[in-house]
Amino acid sequence: MASIAIIGTGYVGLTTGACFSHLGHDVICADIDPEKVARLQNGDVPIVEKGLDRLVDEGLRSGKLSFVVGAAEASKHAEFHYLCVPTPQSDDGSADLSYLQTAAKEISAVLPENSVVVNKSTVPVGSTRVVARVLGRSDVAVVSNPEFLREGTAVSDFLQPDRIVIGSRDQEASIRVAALYSRIATPIMVTDPVSAETIKYASNAFLASKLSFVNAIATLCEAVGADVNDVVLGMGYDSRIGREFLRPGPGWGGSCFPKDTKALARIAQDAGYDFRFLNEVLQVNEEQFDRTAKKVVDSISDEVSHKHIAVLGLTFKAGTDDLRDSPSIEVLKRVAASGVRIKAYDPAVLAEDNNMATMYPDLEIEVVSDPYIASEGAASLVILTEWDEFTWLDFDKLAEIMEGSSIVDARNLLDPTIPRRRGFDYIGIGR
Ligand code: UGA
Repeated sequence: MASIAIIGTGYVGLTTGACFSHLGHDVICADIDPEKVARLQNGDVPIVEKGLDRLVDEGLRSGKLSFVVGAAEASKHAEFHYLCVPTPQSDDGSADLSYLQTAAKEISAVLPENSVVVNKSTVPVGSTRVVARVLGRSDVAVVSNPEFLREGTAVSDFLQPDRIVIGSRDQEASIRVAALYSRIATPIMVTDPVSAETIKYASNAFLASKLSFVNAIATLCEAVGADVNDVVLGMGYDSRIGREFLRPGPGWGGSCFPKDTKALARIAQDAGYDFRFLNEVLQVNEEQFDRTAKKVVDSISDEVSHKHIAVLGLTFKAGTDDLRDSPSIEVLKRVAASGVRIKAYDPAVLAEDNNMATMYPDLEIEVVSDPYIASEGAASLVILTEWDEFTWLDFDKLAEIMEGSSIVDARNLLDPTIPRRRGFDYIGIGR
């Protein structure tokens, strides 16, 4: 079994570290935030991620997983060094590599001889070379090993991946990295670093394109009177198309798709190719936010226009507490700009935590602890995130406590016949 240092304990780093320790490796995770490290040392996982707390607990108990402050502290005795630091978006759409470079600089002097540095962060094409240059260590190989984890299912995505991609010009280093995954049965693809980095961006941009396409088809369905749910079901039976990633919604978001799609467009531009297709994909998404916001505003009838709307769902998708680049927030920014008051409930966003106010200080939303508190006296009910518990709403109770009678279901989560039977005007996406 190998010794692995993980630099950065965000959702990628923490999942990677906990899963590698579960596979039997000795893992030390480093972060710059001493408070976070102290929490993790006590098994307190700061993010909502299914199964992660159990793996962290298992690793701490077995002694195979530990947490330290500072990258150098983690790297000084390890054979593999996974860089899992953020690569946020710069103003020009490109990825900001400063965290990556700082981490590489910090570990370069302490790296044991012949160790391997692995880029797990989503980094622009060519970054493997950048890291190698910053390290300045000819005895240390730098390998790209992009992650394909989805928030909410990151642990199972790591342990049962569709593929593992390894990019390096050093065959021996590639084989050593591949061996870390020997207990996982999945295709392992070894390629050059630039191709590995491109695979990551192309995969995210393709999935985002699929979603913009589906949302555009939903708009078309409304225009021609088709039901998008049936249309995508019929499309999905074709194995060349596949069933996944065909759910229309209020627009797509999260910490990866918007950032990576813009970054790929930028990478293409810098390389001399105008990737207009991607700009269109992004534009369709903006229009989907606008269209959804218009549906919400239009759902408020004149008699109740002085009332607030009840919003269910704030996170960028169900199964996570992540509010970054959430489509729900994008829609609500537009709704609030029309002067509509908003009360919101989300099972992963606690009113007392004040996360909404901290992240979006300019957006006035009252976060409450129960869907029925949000709905009391509401002009309209709006579902923006597909939490399963929203399918179990008591529509008799909602009919009693709401002032208005519209439901906007921006995730097509509900069977429309159920609210309609209680007298609600049901407004979905593309149906
Ligand atoms: C995404 C990719 O799916 C992962 O493979 C990748 O590793 C990750 O980005 C990353 O680069 O780190 P994630 O951002 O966690 O994962 O979320 P997704 O499940 O892909 O959802 C992204 C957005 O698309 C969400 O707003 C979601 O609600 C929306 N979506 C997804 C739909 O509207 N319809 C669908 O059918 C699927």
